[in-house]
Amino acid sequence: MSVPWTDAAAEAIARLVSSRTGFTYALQHPAKTEEGIRRAMEIRGSSSMPAYLRTLQDEPKAMDQLVDELTIRETYFFREPRHFDFIREHIVPETRRQHGEEHVFRAWSAGCASGEEAYSLAILVDQAGVGDRASVLGTDISHAALDTARAGRFRDWSLRGAGSGFLARYFRARGPAWELIDPIRRRVRFSFLNLALDSYPSHVSGTFGMDLILCRNVLIYFDAWTVEQVTKRLAASLAPGGWLVTASSDPTPGRNAGLVPHVTEHGVFYQRPVETMVAEVPEVVRPAPIQRATVKPMRPVTPRSDPVEPPDTPEARYERARKALRQGDYEQVLELVPDLGGNTDACRLRIDALANQRGPDAAVAAASQALRLHPLSTTLHFRHAVLLSSLGHLDASEEALRRVIYLDRGLAVAHFALGAIHWRLRRLDAARRSYRTAARLSADVPPESELPLADGQTAGALAAAAQRHLASLGGQEEAIPA
Ligand SMILES: C[S@@+](CC[C@H](N)C(=O)[O-])C[C@H]1O[C@@H](n2cnc3c(N)ncnc32)[C@H](O)[C@@H]1O
Repeated sequence: MSVPWTDAAAEAIARLVSSRTGFTYALQHPAKTEEGIRRAMEIRGSSSMPAYLRTLQDEPKAMDQLVDELTIRETYFFREPRHFDFIREHIVPETRRQHGEEHVFRAWSAGCASGEEAYSLAILVDQAGVGDRASVLGTDISHAALDTARAGRFRDWSLRGAGSGFLARYFRARGPAWELIDPIRRRVRFSFLNLALDSYPSHVSGTFGMDLILCRNVLIYFDAWTVEQVTKRLAASLAPGGWLVTASSDPTPGRNAGLVPHVTEHGVFYQRPVETMVAEVPEVVRPAPIQRATVKPMRPVTPRSDPVEPPDTPEARYERARKALRQGDYEQVLELVPDLGGNTDACRLRIDALANQRGPDAAVAAASQALRLHPLSTTLHFRHAVLLSSLGHLDASEEALRRVIYLDRGLAVAHFALGAIHWRLRRLDAARRSYRTAARLSADVPPESELPLADGQTAGALAAAAQRHLASLGGQEEAIPA
């Protein structure tokens, strides 16, 4: 039997934390949670729990500090080595076979704590000889953990799974710590992401089209409903054929996630079926063409050369490029649209193919170049914003979104994306305003109508997503003006 709360304000604080972060563990473990609350209060010099509760409601920084005290951030390099064996022996080679040599392997450590898991992935792809065609994203809800991760310095305890050869190759001794070498650090991008919120998959945070997601020792802190929601969103963030790896002690992903479990000698791993069509995947903001729609085996559907009807007009070529993009044949898109000399749609096709084939840096460079030729294109500014954000350039992304909104104030999806940027920069009032505008604009049109720039996203789905964000920000009580 669990120990009861000694203070009603402590329970109210645990409820607030749980509703904002999905960390229902706080509610289930009163004694540990109260200890954490008291530690966090001490850091702030606060002696009254009711007063501290009010502070938490108003100050995001105070909530961050408390989350840092309450979350368990135990992690180390190559934890559960058999998972990494499976990734090395099966997932990486299979992905290369499906998508080809040029494919950029996209991996995400969701709930990465101080970064050891994300860096283990970066080392693994280096060892597998595909390091220069791989990107790793590490996200967590703890800002303190993310700061440690970005610093890339670790003590022996974090490296207890590592052999001496591994140490010598990837680390430099720095006093009592070990510092990761630059090429490995550069491969990993860390950013804040609250898994309990409906903010992914999304191009704004780069959480789309993943070949591999590790979400280990995180789901264990959520209740069954939250596990269901989180695993559904993680599944939707995978490319068709992509893999979700959870820890052996984690709850199993919800059935609605649509993942296929594979029982192997290395453990149980979950795969998104290859044939899942992107259109079936719910997503908050999904400019779909950047996301892989399917894998190479579909290629025969669009032969490179058509002996009956040669692609003689630009429009015919763009139509074929659109098809190829939907089928994930990015090389063919790049062949059909070899430069940025065409119209804005052609530029978008090339930029989306570059994002998937060469990575976001190449795509951002192309978007900047295209914007010099088409400075009034909301499509291109929006793509630019999304790519900048996926690289962590939040200020630049915000500027690009503001341009989109300046050019067309009625684009709900742009307001929604701006809301996500504000949220990531901890500007909660501004985030509320943007989500409110997104909800109002999407409520102005029939719910089943597709929104501009959202590539298939319906007005109803965007309005609902904006409302969910507002609710999690404590803004749901404000009625949306008609
Ligand atoms: C025990 S660590 C797991 C680290 C690593 N995945 C591993 O298995 O070694 C759990 C991490 O989940 C993070 N976390 C908890 N709730 C979260 C949420 N709602 N969104 C994102 N991260 C969360 C915590 O901050 C903590 O860093």
